[in-house]
Formats: sequence, C-alpha cells, structure tokens
Amino acid sequence: MNRRSFIKGTAAAGASALVPAGTISALLSSCAKASAGKTWDFDEVQDRAGTWSIKYGRAKNGEIPMWIADMDLKTDPFVAEALRMRLDRDVLGYTSIPQEFYDAIYSWQKRYHGFDLEREWVGYAPGVIAGINQAYLSFTEPGDKVIIQPPVYDHFRLYIERMGRVAVDNPLIFKDGWYQMDFGGLEKLFDDKTKILLLCNPQNPYGILWDRETLATLAEICERHGVIVISDEIHGDLALYGKKHTPFCSVSEAAKRVGVTFAGPTKAFNLAGLTGTAYSIIPDKEKQNMYNATIGNSKLDEPPIMTLVAQIASYREDTAWLESLKRYIENNISIVERFFSEHDLGIVPIRPQASFLVWLDCRALGLSQPELMDFFVKKAKIIPNNGTSYGPGGEGFVRLNIGCPAATLHEALNRLQNAVAAGG
Ligand SMILES: Cc1ncc(COP(=O)(O)O)c(C=O)c1O
Repeated sequence: MNRRSFIKGTAAAGASALVPAGTISALLSSCAKASAGKTWDFDEVQDRAGTWSIKYGRAKNGEIPMWIADMDLKTDPFVAEALRMRLDRDVLGYTSIPQEFYDAIYSWQKRYHGFDLEREWVGYAPGVIAGINQAYLSFTEPGDKVIIQPPVYDHFRLYIERMGRVAVDNPLIFKDGWYQMDFGGLEKLFDDKTKILLLCNPQNPYGILWDRETLATLAEICERHGVIVISDEIHGDLALYGKKHTPFCSVSEAAKRVGVTFAGPTKAFNLAGLTGTAYSIIPDKEKQNMYNATIGNSKLDEPPIMTLVAQIASYREDTAWLESLKRYIENNISIVERFFSEHDLGIVPIRPQASFLVWLDCRALGLSQPELMDFFVKKAKIIPNNGTSYGPGGEGFVRLNIGCPAATLHEALNRLQNAVAAGG
C-alpha cells in the first residue's frame, strides 16, 4: 500500500465509527444507541495480571488481593462505550472543562442524593485526595492542624503529613458493634492552629452513612471554632440496602458556610485508573474562589479528556447498571455474613451501610496485629488491608474488599477456613 492509499484507507475506515462532531450530549446520545440492550455480568472473572494494577502488583505468591479499594468488576458498559467513542475521534488536544461537566454533577447531586445545591458550587478536582491537598494549599499554612476521626482511610493521615500539616486524632467511639463521633473529645482539641476537620462521609472503613443530625452537630461545633469541614464523599454513590447518603453541605446553613466537599464516580463506577474523575462542591463564595484559584494556579484546570468523558457518562440519568452493582455488592456481603455465621472462626464481619469494603472484627482470635496479618497473607493467602493502618481503633481488625465476582469471594473464604483447619 502506498502512502496515499494508506491515508485514504485509514480515513475511510475511521469515518463510520465517528460520533457526530460537537457537544458531549451528541456523544452521549450516540453512546446510548450503541450500548442499548448491552448487558453486564458481574460474575465474570477478570484477569488483571499484567495490567499495571496496584492491587495485583502486591500478590506475588498466588494470594487473592482484597485490599486497595478498586473492584475486580468491569465498569458500566455505557461509560466504556463513551470512552471508546471519544477515542475514535483520535485528536486528543488540550481540553477545557465543558459546562456539561458541571451540569452532570449538579443534576446528579439533585436527583440521586436529593441535594438542593446551586450550579456555581461545583468545581473540578484532580482526584479526591489531590483535591483535598489543593484545599490544604488554599485554606491552611504548613504546620496547621487537621483533625481526623480514626479508624479512617489511611491516606487522610498520610497526605496531611506529606503536605506539611499536622494530623490530630479524635477517635470514633466503638459501642455495641457500631461507631459514633466523639463530640466531647472534639471540643477539647481545638486551638488556634486547628484549621480543618477532615470528615469521611460515608466513613471508610466500615461504610458508615453519617446521619443528618450528627453532621449538623459537627457543622455547628466546627463553625463555632472557625474550622472548615472537608467532607470526602467518594463512597457516597454506593449507599446500600435502600439507604440514603447525606451530603454534608446539605444538612444546615452552618454546613454550607464551613463545608468543602470532594466526591467523584471513581468508586461506584470503578474508574480509579482514570485518576481525576472528581469534583468539589463549595457553597461559600470566598472559599470557592480561593480553591478555584489554587486549581487554576497549579494548571489543574485542563483535565484529561477521558476523565471528563467518564465523569459525564457515569452521571447520566439511567442508573440501572449502578443499581444492579449495588445488589451484587449486597449479595457478596450476605455471602460473607453467612460464611462467618456458619463457621465459628472468631471473626465477626461488620455490615457496611455503603460501599464494598467489609471491616472484619478479628479481636477474638487473640493475635497480635503482625500475627493477624501473617495469618491472612501467609497462611490463608488473602491480602486484606491492615486494620492498624487506619489509626487508633484498628487493632484486631482487617478490611476486606469484596468488590469482586462471587466465585473469587467464595475461594477467599474457603482459603480462610482451610487456614484455620490447618491450625491457624
Ligand atoms: C475515603 C476515600 N477517599 C479518597 C480515596 C481516593 O480517591 P482518589 O483516588 O480520587 O484520590 C479513597 C480510595 O480508596 C477513599 O476510600
């Protein structure tokens, strides 16, 4: 083939695959047609070996990796189709954030969470933790204090420290098998270096959907002490068992004044490898301007095109895929619960109200934390997250990621049973 016919041939082949030029809504309606009738099968086991997966990178000796929070399940076929269609246009130049990005998030929050927000409150975030880091740059100085409520997502403490701020613990109270915020303890922690309380809503690990009253009390206390509440709501789209996630900034006027929210479809639509599918919600104009200026000054306001497409496609009106994913996660949780009630191994699962992470209470095994991790990783050949990585209160616990096909979960539970039978 000479060069001329090669060019011609390629162009002709590409032309039929192109979606109409113009708006993202044209792309989405082509995508709706192309993906109509497509089904999904969460039981299908995915081979992630050799895909640069962080999760599988740690499983060097045949272990089942059940740690880091991404799922071994394919994303929504609509989202995958939207990405493919955009890629078919081939030109991947500099991208500005389209109005459709803000609109998609605005209407999702209204529709899916019943949050009566305003369009201007929505901003871009280059990932949830990366966005929170930008908020530290916007609202604090090095050496300022950030309160966290452990046991909580380990990257909270990690990035507070990496950003040169100081993490201060206000541990949750574990009572009757569930968790509460310690408001009495919180009141004693504030000083003039305390600038932020970093809230995990829903809380990871153990998937607590914080209720309106708790969040309103938190907002009132923090406002009284001049402290901003950053609410990480990345797991919010995965409220289970018909329960509702409560966006922090929706609970009161005080919450609107002190609240800075970060969220994204990353967890619910399993898009973690597209870092950057995230957004901010900041009702207070001054904080909004400060944060948006930091994002612009760091040249983070020209996001990767594919993350924008994935974000907008995820937050469309049809939620059939997401709802069936939730039913699948609930079924996996039942498998875990049934297993531990039928086999008395000294391990009690705590049922999450949201997301695909199950907190296992292993204190009755009477093992030290290194022994407990050895039991899981070396004897049972399963890699969970270590409970103590979440801070005080994590001793005797591990976190199990059950966002996987049921067959993988059954295999992991069998391995646990065999490891106990073999003498622990
Ligand atoms: C509570 C919470 N926040 C943030 C993240 C990470 O989000 P991102 O990848 O957008 O930084 C995770 C991932 O597990 C998480 O559990």
